Amino acid sequence: MKSVFVVAEVLFLSAAVTVRAQKPAATACSLLQQALPDIIAFPGSQAFEDAISHAEPTSSQNSTCSVTPTTAEQVSTILQIVGREDVRAPFAIKAGGHAGNVGHSSTTGVQIALSGFNNVSYDADSQTATFGPGLTWDEIYAHFSSRVPGVGVGLLLGGGYSWLADQYGLGIDNIVSLDLVLPNGTFVTVTEDAYPDLMFGMRGGLNNFGIVTSFTVKAHPLSSVWGGIVHYTVEADDRIAKALANFSLTNEDTKSQIATAYTIVEGQGLWQVVFFHDGPTVPDAFLPFLDIPSTNRNLSEGGTMFMSTVSVTGDVNEAGFWDVVPIVHYTEDIIANIKSEANRTYTQAIADGRSVDAVLVGIEPFHGMFSHSTGDSAYPHPADRPVTPCNPFVTFTNTDDFEYFQGALKNLSASIQEFAIGAGESRADDIHYPNYALAGTPIELIYGESLPRLRELKASVDPQNVMNLTGGWKI
Ligand SMILES: Cc1cc2nc3c(=O)[nH]c(=O)nc-3n(C[C@H](O)[C@H](O)[C@H](O)COP(=O)(O)OP(=O)(O)OC[C@H]3O[C@@H](n4cnc5c(N)ncnc54)[C@H](O)[C@@H]3O)c2cc1C
Ligand SMILES: *[C@@H]1O[C@H](CO)[C@@H](O)[C@H](O)[C@H]1NC(C)=O
Ligand SMILES: *[C@@H]1O[C@H](CO)[C@@H](O)[C@H](O)[C@H]1NC(C)=O
Ligand SMILES: *[C@@H]1O[C@H](CO)[C@@H](O)[C@H](O)[C@H]1NC(C)=O
Ligand SMILES: *[C@@H]1O[C@H](CO)[C@@H](O)[C@H](O)[C@H]1NC(C)=O
Ligand SMILES: *[C@@H]1O[C@H](CO)[C@@H](O)[C@H](O)[C@H]1NC(C)=O
Ligand SMILES: *[C@@H]1O[C@H](CO)[C@@H](O)[C@H](O)[C@H]1NC(C)=O
Ligand SMILES: *[C@@H]1O[C@H](CO)[C@@H](O)[C@H](O)[C@H]1NC(C)=O
Ligand SMILES: *[C@@H]1O[C@H](CO)[C@@H](O)[C@H](O)[C@H]1NC(C)=O
Repeated sequence: MKSVFVVAEVLFLSAAVTVRAQKPAATACSLLQQALPDIIAFPGSQAFEDAISHAEPTSSQNSTCSVTPTTAEQVSTILQIVGREDVRAPFAIKAGGHAGNVGHSSTTGVQIALSGFNNVSYDADSQTATFGPGLTWDEIYAHFSSRVPGVGVGLLLGGGYSWLADQYGLGIDNIVSLDLVLPNGTFVTVTEDAYPDLMFGMRGGLNNFGIVTSFTVKAHPLSSVWGGIVHYTVEADDRIAKALANFSLTNEDTKSQIATAYTIVEGQGLWQVVFFHDGPTVPDAFLPFLDIPSTNRNLSEGGTMFMSTVSVTGDVNEAGFWDVVPIVHYTEDIIANIKSEANRTYTQAIADGRSVDAVLVGIEPFHGMFSHSTGDSAYPHPADRPVTPCNPFVTFTNTDDFEYFQGALKNLSASIQEFAIGAGESRADDIHYPNYALAGTPIELIYGESLPRLRELKASVDPQNVMNLTGGWKI
């Protein structure tokens, strides 16, 4: 009797919460319809579906309405409406839509889609590229190459690891200026000289300080690139693991990067290795990998266009999410542990009757990527603590298994890190890369010693706390 009563009470409470949560969004949508009738869309229309869609379906939510602005003035109007004291509607800001965490760029309130900001230009005199957040990296590749088709500029606001990271640093270390609509709707152009604190905040602070409508970054044009992708099956004598550990521990050629993934799919383990060399011929650093028998290889000399179409994961379009484990070097023992923990996660999911598709762990042995750190960024990445973002990833077919796989992924990361800590290649207080970290990661592990300054900046730039109406890594 008692438990029935409790259940009824819980249902009643959640219904009340739903009503309260829906009302501000409905109010905001009707105000937006009056103010910006040309750019608003509602459920049932194609424009709305496009605005809420994400690379992983599990990252999408059904919003109350969507807006697709094309000018900074419209963005300002939107922020002033959702943030109005008597409205305070939940909202989301979406660029490329590749966030893996629900709510980081999705909402049940007002979805703001930035696909209309799609200008791109290159200034040869200053060697800078300027582009809008509506572009994906493959569309910007000629200026600032990314590693995966479809990924958007959110990558840049959270850190930004690219094929050029070893040579030139992370994306945030290459920002020259940003056009930003502040939480109160005021428009500013953020540069180091004009707004040093905001520049610090935007280097990793994602959506905490407003909405970026244009980026200007240092460009590093590439003339010719040697690279591609090779697939290997896993033998008992794992020669890829040996070559990878050797590369991680000894490679010092910053023009030569690799991104690898160990994947278990259909019960089989396989390695994929993507090679990138800034130059027209194969470098020595890659030779140990190329001696190993492979099942499939697609390698060539080509332009940046070539690399922008190659990826380890492909573009994800099924339910899935990922996490990060900070690791300095990958020893053979750490790699062996990653493989066995991935297997344990996969095997356990099958035994538990869960809809696992693949368990993947990305291993990207960067070298020197933090030595270009400005030292003044929200995302701490000091040269003397060069942790690479080891990237456990699960995909599955039944969205009802969402919570199960969040737990499984969390456990997988924890066991990988525990082993790496034992091997002296990770620390419990190492920073977790914001663009890879799984929801629930303590904010202290995302922003570390930047937190006090970020909180001070937030208090001064966003006294009305407008940006807490949107999800993400909140400070
Ligand atoms: C297949 C795949 C490959 C990846 N490869 C890489 C990689 O090579 N290197 C790497 O560093 N990361 C990589 N990532 C991670 C990637 O950096 C993050 O997923 C990033 O959040 C994607 O940005 P987005 O614009 O596509 O995502 P979105 O989901 O649109 O945005 C991500 C976050 O940024 C905020 N945001 C976006 N635009 C703005 C804006 N204009 N103003 C204010 N806030 C904004 C959003 O609100 C959200 O919180 C990859 C992810 C996937 C799925
Ligand atoms: C969104 O709404 C549609 C139609 O009502 C429903 O089928 C779908 O499951 C909902 N999606 C989410 C993520 O709630
Ligand atoms: C894009 O460029 C065009 C032409 O220069 C300009 O009129 C327009 O305002 C720009 N759009 C944005 C969103 O910056
Ligand atoms: C996973 O572990 C099981 C049981 O220990 C083993 O039989 C299987 O070969 C392993 N699979 C892979 C891909 O390593
Ligand atoms: C180890 O890496 C170094 C530097 O990249 C390379 O020269 C050497 O051939 C590699 N050794 C083995 C055994 O793979
Ligand atoms: C090899 O890669 C290129 C560039 O991405 C692509 O166009 C081509 O289809 C690939 N070939 C094979 C056999 O996969
Ligand atoms: C993850 O670990 C917790 C604590 O050990 C356990 O209760 C839970 O069942 C694990 N989840 C999965 C999916 O293995
Ligand atoms: C908006 O915020 C900025 C930064 O705090 C401040 O300089 C500006 O005066 C504010 N504008 C208005 C209209 O309140
Ligand atoms: C914003 O949200 C975060 C996370 O929920 C919270 O810790 C923080 O105190 C909030 N900020 C304010 C000013 O309420």
